[in-house]
Amino acid sequence: MLSNDQLDKWDRENFFHPSTHLAQHARGESPNRIITGGSGVYIEDRDGNKLLDGFAGLYCVNAGYGRAEIAEAIAAQAKELAYYHAYVGHGTEASITLAKMVLDRAPKNMSKVYFGLSGSDANETNIKLIWYYNNILGRPKKKKIISRWRGYHGSGLMTGSLTGLAGFHNKFDLPLSPILHTVAPYYFRRDDLSMSEADFVAHCVSELEAMIAREGADTIAAFIGEPVLGTGGIVPPPAGYWPAIQAVLKKHDILLVADEVVTGFGRLGTMFGSDHFGIEADIITIAKGLTSAYAPLSGSIISDKVWKVLEQGTDENGPIGHGWTYSAHPIGAAAGVANLKLIDDLNLIANASEIGAYLNTSMKAALGEHPHVGDIRGEGMLCAVEFVEERAARKFYDPAQKIGPQISAALAKHNVIARAMPQGDILGFAPPFCLTKAEADIVVEKTALAVKEVLG
Ligand SMILES: Cc1ncc(COP(=O)(O)O)c(C=O)c1O
Repeated sequence: MLSNDQLDKWDRENFFHPSTHLAQHARGESPNRIITGGSGVYIEDRDGNKLLDGFAGLYCVNAGYGRAEIAEAIAAQAKELAYYHAYVGHGTEASITLAKMVLDRAPKNMSKVYFGLSGSDANETNIKLIWYYNNILGRPKKKKIISRWRGYHGSGLMTGSLTGLAGFHNKFDLPLSPILHTVAPYYFRRDDLSMSEADFVAHCVSELEAMIAREGADTIAAFIGEPVLGTGGIVPPPAGYWPAIQAVLKKHDILLVADEVVTGFGRLGTMFGSDHFGIEADIITIAKGLTSAYAPLSGSIISDKVWKVLEQGTDENGPIGHGWTYSAHPIGAAAGVANLKLIDDLNLIANASEIGAYLNTSMKAALGEHPHVGDIRGEGMLCAVEFVEERAARKFYDPAQKIGPQISAALAKHNVIARAMPQGDILGFAPPFCLTKAEADIVVEKTALAVKEVLG
């Protein structure tokens, strides 16, 4: 076995880590953590630390770590048939079964699922299909996509453009021009503090209406949004937001993509965020919770309405010019089948709902009155604590102070992982669905301790 020093050296010399300060890492100024194992909500590192993972990796290990059922399904598939492609009508028992399982769980207006590998490539597929759809319908000008500031939809060229976070645009020449960003449904950060939630929803709607009027509805193809903003700050929408937005989109014949990469398969305590908020999407993006990240797999669930036009398109133009070598990879599909079965068998979505509510209530009880806590919010097994310099005036900290990262680092010293969300001093929690009450108590107790250490 390699020594930790050797691995540290190789890591810094060879490994280009995503979302990392490259120079500091190469110079050895930032820590690296080498993860060796996991069980339930805990992971272990090479230094022998056992950490409660309050963010389920990147809110993806929904079933929890160390699930033998999923590992064995992957091993069996790899031995029987590790790979065959899905082009020109090929498939495997795993990929066909998973497609059926996804559609059985999806909203009733959904028709087919296309499998990719990541949330980013699934959203890339979605935009391509939406452009194709409007070309087949004879509307070649209807191509712009509206996203929201603080939305997160991936980090490719198109999907990084959809993402509404400055760090994913700056110096990359993004966003690309067919992408527009409208206001985030982030009530706590509203500009006008006198607005009620209902006023703020009306404001979001009028901003959207104004954008559509300015650009022309005949140039706008689709609107994409996460049911609950994730990476942008874990922000549930204000009451009535989705029905009001949906009404505007319907009026202007603009498709709706619900990006359920985080919320799909139970994170909000319901199978989909679309069920949770009454969203009637035309396309749903799935990834993370589809396999609980035991293998990479994503999907685009396509509604009847869009599917009919795709069929028309291939009748007119021949086979659809879209596909990845690893689309519907059998190992990912086998992981997905075993994972969705396990989520059902262990009733994990009900647990996410019950323990998620407990986590949110306990977090509010522990930190709700803290002078530097501005907001505590959540939905299902999602929770966020937002820090402010002055609570009454809602004055935010100077980002250079890095309050969020300091608190998450202090918390990690107490062996609990939470994520310092990238834009704002926001501590995010998204534990595996199997979290128990006792484990939720540990998360809250250690968070309160870390907040005290950093902010007093
Ligand atoms: C809502 C949402 N969409 C898309 C993505 C991109 O997924 P991936 O990182 O698998 O490309 C993410 C990743 O966090 C996400 O949260």
